Amino acid sequence: MTTAQPLQVTAAHNLSQSARAEVEYQTNGDLSSFIPRGDTTVTLNYFRPPEDGSAPHNYVEKAPNGQPQRNFGDFDVQVPIHDIRGHESEYTLDKDAFQVVSDVPESAEHDFADDESIKKNYYPEVEKLILDHVPGSNRVFLFDHTIRRSTPGAPRAPVTRVHIDQTVKSATQRVHHHLPEEAERLLQGRYRIINIWRPLNGPVQANPLGFASSSTLKDEDLIPIEHRYPDRTGETAGIRYNPAQKWHYLSGMKNNERLFLECFDSEARKPGTKVLGGRVPHTAFQDPRTPKGAVGRESIEVRALVFGP
Ligand code: OGA
Ligand code: FE
Repeated sequence: MTTAQPLQVTAAHNLSQSARAEVEYQTNGDLSSFIPRGDTTVTLNYFRPPEDGSAPHNYVEKAPNGQPQRNFGDFDVQVPIHDIRGHESEYTLDKDAFQVVSDVPESAEHDFADDESIKKNYYPEVEKLILDHVPGSNRVFLFDHTIRRSTPGAPRAPVTRVHIDQTVKSATQRVHHHLPEEAERLLQGRYRIINIWRPLNGPVQANPLGFASSSTLKDEDLIPIEHRYPDRTGETAGIRYNPAQKWHYLSGMKNNERLFLECFDSEARKPGTKVLGGRVPHTAFQDPRTPKGAVGRESIEVRALVFGP
C-alpha cells in the first residue's frame, strides 16, 4: 500500500457512488465492490400502439421489401425498482411468476460459445434444476436458448423493452410445434413456459434485468404482438404502462444464481386458481448509478416447456 492511498479514499468519501467507483477502478481495476445495490428509480421502455390502429407486429428476421421491422413504438417511463437481494425466497412462480435459485453448482459448460456444447453440457443441468424447483413438474422440454452480450455488434444484446415472450396463443402453439404427437394429451394437463436466466460474467455490473410481479399486472395491459418468423407467426406481448406494476431486480446477480422467468402457466386460467397470472413482464435496464467503465452484462436464457400437475 502506498502512502497516497488513504488520502485518495478520504477525498473519494464525498463523491457520489459512481464517481467513487471510478476512482476505485482507476486505482486497482476492480469494480466488484461498486455494483449498484438497493432500491432506485429507473427508466423503462414501454409499448406504444401503432398510430394507425393496425395490429402490432414485428419481424424476427429482416422485414420484407421496405416494410418497417416493427409497426409499434415505445415510450419511456420512470419507475421505482426494488432490489430483492436478501429477500429472494419471498417471491414464487405461482404468486409473482419469477423465482430465484441460489448456490447452483458450477456448470460442466465453461465457454458458452458453441450451441452443441451448450446443449450437451448445460441443458441437462437446466432440466434437473427445473424438476427440482418447479413444484409439480414431471417433464421438461428445452426448446431454445439465447446468449446476450452488451458489446456493440453482438448478435444478440440485452432487450431494453418491457415484454413477455409468449401469450396464451403462442404458448399453446409451442406445444404443438415441438411435441406434435403428444400435444393433444399434454394440453389437457398443466403446461408452463419458463425461461432460466443467468449471467455469464457475473456479478452483473451493468445492464441488469428487471421484472414486474405477475400479481401486479392486469390482463388488460397485455397487448399481443405478432412475431413474424420467415415460415410462421408466433405471438409475444407488449405491456401498457400502469403504475400498479411493481418492478424488481436482483443486484449484482452472480454466476451461481438462476432467475426463473415464467411466461405462461395454463393453471392461471382456471377459475378459483391460486396462480396470479403466471406471466412476468421483464426488460433489461440501465441503472443510473452504474459507474463509467463498468463491464456490460453477458447472459444466457434457456426456454423450457414444463409439464406437470
Ligand atoms: C428473456 C429476455 C432479455 C435480456 O430472458 O426472455 O427477454 O436482456 N431477456 O436478457
Ligand atoms: Fe424475454
